Amino acid sequence: MTKVVPLAIPPRASARQHPLESPRLLLQPLDTTDAQELWAAIEGSRQHLGRWLPWVPFTDSLTATLRFIEASAIDWDTGRSLRYLIRERGSRRLLGVVGLDACVHLHRAAELGYWLKRDVTGHGFMTEAARTLVDAGFQRLHLHRIRCAAATDNHASLQVIARLGFRFEGLARHAEWVDARWLDHAVFAKLATDD
Ligand SMILES: CC(C)(COP(=O)(O)OP(=O)(O)OC[C@H]1O[C@@H](n2cnc3c(N)ncnc32)[C@H](O)[C@@H]1OP(=O)(O)O)[C@@H](O)C(=O)NCCC(=O)NCCS
Repeated sequence: MTKVVPLAIPPRASARQHPLESPRLLLQPLDTTDAQELWAAIEGSRQHLGRWLPWVPFTDSLTATLRFIEASAIDWDTGRSLRYLIRERGSRRLLGVVGLDACVHLHRAAELGYWLKRDVTGHGFMTEAARTLVDAGFQRLHLHRIRCAAATDNHASLQVIARLGFRFEGLARHAEWVDARWLDHAVFAKLATDD
């Protein structure tokens, strides 16, 4: 019988107490105490985010943001998704969100997703945050495969994926209906065993 290696998902409280760290950033699980800041971040970047992310029009109030955070807590606690708030280390200002979604324990697989506030793009924050999470995913959680997809015309996201060393696997046509148009997705993945 094949041995199943379960994903080593840390308890949410301990992940919050001991954030993932990189030179400029801290990554902490979303918490209801972040709701106001998260709502302000989404509201302030609505157009920038809404071009690429299908959930943006549905996150239309502080209450909806709170519901998303509560759902994320349940997803974390049931081992389905790990969603982290990205904060700058020194100032503690909120920069965006990065997460591993759709965790499948049997296959040790997950999907990387992310966004930044519009006014903090262009500094390499997402490359740093996503690299930190991907490394933790392989080294601490024992993931074997991380998938990441971006619209074929989302050049900023495609650059992030390229910098992280993901390999191109194919195209998913009309994968999402976002901002009143179909997005074709370029699909990439990285394996724990890749160079
Ligand atoms: C996708 C997204 C997170 C990319 O943001 P980004 O700021 O371009 O990505 P990074 O934070 O990695 O920064 C890279 C940029 O910073 C520059 N940079 C500056 N210092 C850097 C550093 N130390 N390391 C790496 N890049 C650095 C890079 O040259 C690059 O700029 P360029 O695009 O002009 O070449 C952002 O555009 C976004 O939130 N988009 C909307 C939501 C979205 O599309 N999410 C993904 C769906 S698949």
